[in-house]
Amino acid sequence: MNHKLQPVRGTKDILEEDYKQFSYVQNVARNVGSLYGFKEISTPIFEFTEVFAKTLGEESDVVGKEMYSFEDRGGESITLRPEFTAGIARAFISGGLTNQLPLKLFATGPLFRYERPQKGRQRQFHQINFELMGAAQPQADVEVISMGAHILEALGISDKTKLELNSLGDKESREKYRNALVEYLNDYKDSLSDDSKNRLLKNPMRILDSKDEGDKKIVADAPVIGEYYSNEASDFFSSVKEGLDGLGVKYELNNRLVRGLDYYCHTAFEFTTDALGAQNAVLAGGRYDGLISMMGGNDTPAVGFAGGVERLVALSGKTISSKRPVVIIPIGQVAEKEAVFLAGVLRKEGIYIELGYSGNVKKRMKKANNINAKAAVIFGDVEMSNKVAKLKDFDSGNEIEVSTDGLLDAISAIL
Ligand code: HAM
Repeated sequence: MNHKLQPVRGTKDILEEDYKQFSYVQNVARNVGSLYGFKEISTPIFEFTEVFAKTLGEESDVVGKEMYSFEDRGGESITLRPEFTAGIARAFISGGLTNQLPLKLFATGPLFRYERPQKGRQRQFHQINFELMGAAQPQADVEVISMGAHILEALGISDKTKLELNSLGDKESREKYRNALVEYLNDYKDSLSDDSKNRLLKNPMRILDSKDEGDKKIVADAPVIGEYYSNEASDFFSSVKEGLDGLGVKYELNNRLVRGLDYYCHTAFEFTTDALGAQNAVLAGGRYDGLISMMGGNDTPAVGFAGGVERLVALSGKTISSKRPVVIIPIGQVAEKEAVFLAGVLRKEGIYIELGYSGNVKKRMKKANNINAKAAVIFGDVEMSNKVAKLKDFDSGNEIEVSTDGLLDAISAIL
């Protein structure tokens, strides 16, 4: 086949059954979020490149090698959004939302990263994304994390995931830690993987979550960030942990959890799973107090997370049952015309109708069975002149004759 007719590598069509699961996950997130006061918004799929470049970190993988950037016809550098947070922060500043704090925003939709596609990792993927802006208190982190746990519970996948938690401390803690880490890693410089050698100068903390076996051994004895927290950072983290303990949200502390984007401070967390191979994070996020001011807005503390819809769908593996139709099977030309009219009336009453377009009655009944119809309304010229129709319930096998006036009630009674 002409390769241009294939979807681009790392992208997928989301067809019927998958789409049902997809929108189910999005709806569960939307509904749970609304219980916490999150309001849905939608921001553009592309932004000026600078919205992402500086904020996510010039040295991050996303900015360094994964962005879909291009120059538009006006010569502007544009980037397809690789994540929601920076675009939402941009909307927060430019849309004048800054005086309605705290603000809770939910968004869902496609994101784009030029990554190596593999199970659970695509170049176009989707997220459910939550941002709580304007709350500096650790209780906000607790609320957001427990909402993540609530979503996983509502999806029935809590037992397949665990919450990993860390604090990246404040700026002061991180600077001290960074120096100590570089000092330690310098002794092993020649044994580090090439990626990590690069990161040593630019973004040493990312070496902590390197997947390279050699790096892992070196990192095992590296200093841990917890030893460098300022009093304030340490108190903040304790409050987050206490809040989660109070709510019974279980977590594992992971002092190697650093997250791949640069805007985080204090709380960093990931709900991870063993069930999806190497791509183990399903919901991930943290606090990002510096992002909005870095982008030119007022100093606004914020915390949030995003979940990969594809990964959540893969984990939940749930078959979503669909509404079952009633089929109308007219026999004869006059009845066929009447059928279209009747379908219109019943659909306006909220009933899902399929019309059997062609074939004899037997064929149409078979088709009705194939689409899992609940019932069939069958009528020919004789029934029409008597103003009646046959109503067959496929589950019970019962067939009754009903007057056309009583059809709606009779259908409603068996649905
Ligand atoms: P992230 O960790 O880059 O964070 O992505 C969040 C989630 O999106 C991941 O845990 C994963 O489930 C999913 N994901 C990421 N990349 C891919 C991919 N290539 N294919 C499939 N799924 C993927 C963020 O994006 C932050 N903006 C989260 C956040 C919101 N932090 C604060 N607020």
